[in-house]
Amino acid sequence: MKKVIVTGGSGFIGSNLIQLLLKKKYFVINIDKSSYSANPYNVKDFKYNKNYLFFKLDINQKNKIFKIIKKYKPAGIFNLAAETHVDRSIDNAQTFIKTNVLGVHNLLEAIRKSEKKIKNKLKFLQVSTDEVYGDIPSNTEAKEDYNYNPSSPYSASKAGADQLVRSYGRTYGIKILIANPCNNYGPNQFPEKFVPKMIFNILNGKNLPLYGKGQNVREWIYVKDNCEALLKIFNRGKIGKNYNIGSGTRLKNIDLIKKLLRIAKKKNIKLNKKTMIEFVFDRPGHDERYALNSSRIKREIGWKNKTNISNGLLKTIIWYMKNLNFFKKISKKNISKRLGLKI
Ligand SMILES: NC(=O)c1ccc[n+]([C@@H]2O[C@H](COP(=O)([O-])OP(=O)(O)OC[C@H]3O[C@@H](n4cnc5c(N)ncnc54)[C@H](O)[C@@H]3O)[C@@H](O)[C@H]2O)c1
Repeated sequence: MKKVIVTGGSGFIGSNLIQLLLKKKYFVINIDKSSYSANPYNVKDFKYNKNYLFFKLDINQKNKIFKIIKKYKPAGIFNLAAETHVDRSIDNAQTFIKTNVLGVHNLLEAIRKSEKKIKNKLKFLQVSTDEVYGDIPSNTEAKEDYNYNPSSPYSASKAGADQLVRSYGRTYGIKILIANPCNNYGPNQFPEKFVPKMIFNILNGKNLPLYGKGQNVREWIYVKDNCEALLKIFNRGKIGKNYNIGSGTRLKNIDLIKKLLRIAKKKNIKLNKKTMIEFVFDRPGHDERYALNSSRIKREIGWKNKTNISNGLLKTIIWYMKNLNFFKKISKKNISKRLGLKI
């Protein structure tokens, strides 16, 4: 049985990835500091699985990470632990540098200092983002060799980490891989992010705040498809390479909201009169367009996106309808404070 570490496994993508790994009979060690975006609800079912272990731990705690690697000798680390909200990085970038750059450095150091036998076997998969490429002009797609040109402190911290990961591959021979996924949506996402926030507001009769005129284009992938891609990259990716993970489905933010509203109508969700699109002051440095060229992962690894956006959004809405209690578990005070943030 393959043992792997997933960092950030109590968050949105991490918890979906652990679900997949357990289904595929991996032994999974989740290392997560349980920050505000982690939710015990995301991992509540795992604790009954004998192939699951959880350490409430910051990836900056190098010695403890080193000991876990020494004891469990994992075949790999999927690094998803990160500060992930762009707006928060604009308010204050410090924790982003600490986790997304220094934390990654600590993980790499813990691997570098491990016994040769462990180090030679262990693969380190850094989960990056399409945001590292910055704004992509219309009629253009970012391939893996596209220049890094991050616009926000969040994407700059992820870009910095990617370069560090590459350098540890080159200099110390650590077996590294990098994934650059586009925007994910689906179950388990904390409701400060765009899609769950819109669904949450639709279900609770609130307005739908939209930056600028809603013209920014994003590429969207259903989280389960992204997790399958991550696992395939881990198993079949060429060491030292990075792989874009995109669906090819690119939508203006306003069109995504309209899609959600149409699906809500189809599902007979009663809309409150207050549920209207409200244009709000734009995010500084807001990238206009992301667009990935994902031919490498299809060609070299044989991964294909399965879920079309309408089906994926429908599944997501249904999940949030069924799991509204999930939100109620977060204290009212906290949730309004958190959702009080911009999108
Ligand atoms: N969500 C997306 O659309 C998207 C798209 C592309 C890439 N990514 C990347 O995927 C990864 C996961 O994103 P997500 O959306 O699941 O984020 P998330 O915010 O839902 O989860 C992040 C998890 O990391 C944990 N964490 C934060 N700092 C930590 C630290 N110092 N030590 C240990 N754990 C820590 C948090 O507690 C949380 O459980 C991130 O690296 C992100 O940059 C996300």
